[in-house]
Amino acid sequence: MSLYRLGLNMEFLLAVSTALLLAGSVSSQDMSHEDLLAQLQACPKECRCPPSFPSAVYCDNKGLKRIPVIPPNTLYLYLQNNLIEVLSADALRNATQLKWLNLNHNKITSEGVEEDALKAMPNLVYLYMEDNLLTSVPSALPQSLEQLRLSRNKISKIPLGVFSNMEHLTLLDLQGNKLQDEDVTEASLKGLNNLVQINLAKNQLSNMPLGLPSTTTQIFLDGNNIDKIPASYFKGLPKVAFLRLNHNKLVNGGLPKNIFNLSSILDLQLSHNMLTEVPTIPAGLEHLHLDHNQIKYLNGSDICPLPAEALDDYFDEKGPRLRYLRLDGNEIKPPIPRDLMVCFRLLRAIVI
Ligand SMILES: *[C@@H]1O[C@H](CO)[C@@H](O)[C@H](O)[C@H]1NC(C)=O
Ligand SMILES: *[C@@H]1O[C@H](CO)[C@@H](O)[C@H](O)[C@H]1NC(C)=O
Ligand SMILES: *[C@@H]1O[C@H](CO)[C@@H](O)[C@H](O)[C@H]1NC(C)=O
Repeated sequence: MSLYRLGLNMEFLLAVSTALLLAGSVSSQDMSHEDLLAQLQACPKECRCPPSFPSAVYCDNKGLKRIPVIPPNTLYLYLQNNLIEVLSADALRNATQLKWLNLNHNKITSEGVEEDALKAMPNLVYLYMEDNLLTSVPSALPQSLEQLRLSRNKISKIPLGVFSNMEHLTLLDLQGNKLQDEDVTEASLKGLNNLVQINLAKNQLSNMPLGLPSTTTQIFLDGNNIDKIPASYFKGLPKVAFLRLNHNKLVNGGLPKNIFNLSSILDLQLSHNMLTEVPTIPAGLEHLHLDHNQIKYLNGSDICPLPAEALDDYFDEKGPRLRYLRLDGNEIKPPIPRDLMVCFRLLRAIVI
C-alpha cells in the first residue's frame, strides 16, 4: 500500500462538527452560598463533589450496585463504570436540574428503567447509557434531550412513539445493537424533527433504514448487511453530508447510477464492500473511501465528475473538491492515472 501525500494535513470535518455540538452546552451555573453548602453536605458518601465545581457529582468507578440519593443542585452526574442494575426514580427524585447523566458501563436492563425516572428530569440534555443491558430504547425520555447514546446494548426494539416530541434531539447513537430492518421505520423514528446524526452501525440491517428525518446530515451504517440502495433513497434527505457504509455487502449492481451524486455530500465511506467499479461521485465530494473492495482498474476520466473540457473553466469555484482518496486493498496497481490528478487538483492524499 502506498500513501501519496500531496499537501498538508487534511481536516477531519466530522471531528470538528462533533466538537461544535458539544461546545457551549457545558457551563457551570452560579449557586448561592446556601445552596453550595447544602449541595456539599448532601454529597453521597460514595461520591466526590468538588467544592470548585459543586454542580458536578462524581460517582464513577466505585463498584456501586445502586444509584445513591443525588442532591438537588446537581447538573452533571457521573455514574459510569459501576454495577448499577436499576435506574431508580427515588434516588433521582430531587435531581430535577440534571443536564448531563452518564451511566455508561453498568448493568441496567430495560426492566430496570423505572417508570418516570427519566421523565422527572425536565432539563436533561445528554443521556449516556452505553454498554448496558437494554433491550429496548428507554422511555419516557425527557423532551429536553439533545444527545442519546445507547451504543453496545442489546436493543432490538424502538417502542412506537418513544421519540414523539423529541424536537431537540440532534444525536441518536444506537450502534452495536440488534436492530433489524423492521425495527427502524418512519413510525418508530417519528418526532425526531431536528435529528442531525444517526448511528446504526453494527446492527442487523439488510436494507437502508427507512424514515430518517429530512434534517439528517450524518448517517453511519457501517458493519451491517446492506447490499443495495433504492434509487429514490436520498430524495427525502437533502442535507446528507457524511455517509458511512463501510463493512457492508454493497455491489455495483445494487447501486443505481447516480445514487451518490448528491449536492450535499462531503464524505463518502464505502470501504470493505464488494464494489468492482468506482461509483459516480459529485464535484463537491471531499473525502472518498473505497479501500478493500474489488476494483480492478481506474479510469480517471470516468471518475471525474466533470468532463475534461469543463475543468479549466471551473478550476477554482466549481471544480472537483476531492481532497482525500483511499483505494488500497483493491486490485489496482500504481501508478495513479495522470487524468485523475488533472481532474482532482485539490487532492492532498491518495492511498493506493
Ligand atoms: C428531596 O428534597 C426534599 C425537600 O428538600 C427532602 O425532604 C427529601 O428528603 C429529599 N429526598 C431525597 C430522596 O433526597
Ligand atoms: C450529477 O448531478 C449533477 C447535478 O444534478 C449533474 O449535472 C450531473 O450530470 C450528474 N452526473 C452524472 C454523471 O450524471
Ligand atoms: C477511460 O474512459 C474513457 C471514456 O469512457 C475512454 O475514452 C478511455 O479510453 C479510457 N481510458 C483508459 C486508459 O482506459
